[in-house]
Amino acid sequence: MATTASVTTAASTTLLPQHKPETTQIAAFPATLSLPSTGGQKAFSIRCSSTTLQTAPPIASATDRVFNFAAGPAVLPENVLLRAQSELYNWRGSGMSVMEMSHRGKEFLSIIQKAEADLRTLLNIPSNYHVLFLQGGATTQFAAIPLNICQPDDLVDYVVTGSWGDKAFKEASKYCQPKSIWSGKSDKYTKIPSFETLQQTPGAKYLHICANETIHGVEFKDYPIPANENEILIADMSSNFCSKPVDVSKFGLIYAGAQKNVGPSGVTIVIIRSDLIGNAQSTTPVMLDYKIHADNASLYNTPPCFGIYMCGLVFEDLVAQGGLIEVEKKNVKKAKVLYDAINDSNGFYRCPVVESVRSLMNVPFTLAKPELEAEFVREAAKEKMLQLKGHRSVGGIRASIYNAMPLAGVEKLVAFMKDFQARHDG
Ligand SMILES: Cc1ncc(COP(=O)(O)O)c(C=O)c1O
Repeated sequence: MATTASVTTAASTTLLPQHKPETTQIAAFPATLSLPSTGGQKAFSIRCSSTTLQTAPPIASATDRVFNFAAGPAVLPENVLLRAQSELYNWRGSGMSVMEMSHRGKEFLSIIQKAEADLRTLLNIPSNYHVLFLQGGATTQFAAIPLNICQPDDLVDYVVTGSWGDKAFKEASKYCQPKSIWSGKSDKYTKIPSFETLQQTPGAKYLHICANETIHGVEFKDYPIPANENEILIADMSSNFCSKPVDVSKFGLIYAGAQKNVGPSGVTIVIIRSDLIGNAQSTTPVMLDYKIHADNASLYNTPPCFGIYMCGLVFEDLVAQGGLIEVEKKNVKKAKVLYDAINDSNGFYRCPVVESVRSLMNVPFTLAKPELEAEFVREAAKEKMLQLKGHRSVGGIRASIYNAMPLAGVEKLVAFMKDFQARHDG
């Protein structure tokens, strides 16, 4: 038996300014419970004494927000979060949240189509490229790429500038014949090779790079050109996607996990030239076959609807900021503030990466006295600057300063670094 109670839901005007309080009948818990400790069944009844259920905590104010320097999942634009919050309960009068919508209904179709249109505007994606919203993270693409682009005997080249490029290279060896034509491992992944010195493999089907190595902070500022006719350039842009303009036409395929610059985890974006679709190896699982996803406009199965919606809000915000030329200017400025502080610290802080290829997104640095690094991270956290610990494989400090990190966050970090140095130098 179930009782019902009259409940006032999500009524706060701060939470949903456009939404009027409403009364809903909800099913309360059963009034008869089993109490094993007494050795028998004991019936008792419970009355709901209050008719008001607190369904939402008070809205957090901007001053409760921290500066989140995480490498991903990472900071999202505050206005996007607030917009999503205001639309969460009832998306634009549809009477439901995006999480509850059919992915085949007209509301969600409008969301995914707008997301794609805004991304096309941002990156000026040519019409002969497909945009796919997929799942499985960039890691899944490490396998999907060779499965779709090659046959098992095909040769392909990888330039390995960090851990992610290395993972992609190793995964590809299950599905084709990859060669690492350059590796920065012996230099602890602090460099990008000069393109003229690359010994590309004759007949290779593609040349793979990781455009920005999230762990090591090494970023391609320009891109190599594949040596063979019909060979394509492929880039993992997970950690610098939409951080600056990119000439998509130079690439056969670009892929990126969303959770650094453009949304929550759970969405992976693939931008692929259409003539590359439709030649997958026969054993390719349907979920990894680009043709299946392209033919079904990323709706072959249930997509990560809410994540795609969030990416769409981020794209809209980037368009409103004036597009990626403006976004890049802000990123250059932020990175300069931080790298200048490192360079000007007389060796107290040190960035191991060669200056010309330092990432605008992920800034790794060490302290001359490594024993102070844990204290640095702890004290910064007390000042509401979080996730500054370097990746477990390399140690040190890493500040990820993606699009959504405001200049104020970087300035606060730099002020803290100077103060920390003043207290510990000498
Ligand atoms: C450059 C790069 N590639 C690939 C990955 C793996 O992404 P995912 O965890 O979405 O599979 C990451 C994750 O941090 C990354 O930074």
